[in-house]
Amino acid sequence: MPNDQHANLDWRDEVIPVSRQFDDPYFSLDNGLAETRHVFLDGNDLRTRLQDGFHIAELGFGTGLNMLATALLWAEMGAPGTVHFTSFEAFPMQAPEIERALRAFPEAQAIAAPYLDQWASGAREFDFAGLHVTVVIGDARDTLPAQNLQADAWFLDGFSPAKNPELWSPELMAAVGAATATNGTCATYTAAGHVRRSLTDAGFEITRIPGFGRKRHMTVGKKPA
Ligand SMILES: C[S@@+](CC[C@H](N)C(=O)[O-])C[C@H]1O[C@@H](n2cnc3c(N)ncnc32)[C@H](O)[C@@H]1O
Repeated sequence: MPNDQHANLDWRDEVIPVSRQFDDPYFSLDNGLAETRHVFLDGNDLRTRLQDGFHIAELGFGTGLNMLATALLWAEMGAPGTVHFTSFEAFPMQAPEIERALRAFPEAQAIAAPYLDQWASGAREFDFAGLHVTVVIGDARDTLPAQNLQADAWFLDGFSPAKNPELWSPELMAAVGAATATNGTCATYTAAGHVRRSLTDAGFEITRIPGFGRKRHMTVGKKPA
């Protein structure tokens, strides 16, 4: 795995960040926010499940677009309380890079200023728009097993398994399973067979459902009681 400490970026169409370390874009070139909503919010059934104290965890914080989409949904639901959002990130982007990437998503950009201000100040744990956000910096293979975490829903959002195999290894998927509450769920855009097998071995009941846009399938899972 590359070991630079920060994201090393190219830009496609001026706004889509592409990782030089992994040679892969951070989100779908079609419509990243719509894909996030389909894969991670709907894939974890969050519209019916989000409530005070609910805990979302994520592999790959990137720009924070998934976090912003969660904040938008939580605001739309109008429920009281705080949702916890813990994300794992080895190569953090810098605030101006995140700000540039979010220009492609006016809805997310419209609420992002307090997040960007805190991120620019170096905060990696902060309150934002009804979320309590913690971004754990470092290789998730080391940092996740060290966390005392029982998430209700997981966003598995590494770069593609072919380009970022570290973030999809059977060992890490086992750590995800161990860090999931009973009846907790996971969702990911990939339908790669080895990822589905690893998640099954990690204790999830796995289902393949229609993917976003041109992707035929994606994967969701539930940890049974
Ligand atoms: C597809 S991007 C995530 C996009 C992000 N969820 C968003 O909303 O912008 C994948 C992320 O995984 C991170 N990553 C890759 N390998 C990692 C590792 N071993 N541990 C932690 N993060 C890793 C990358 O730096 C990148 O930010």
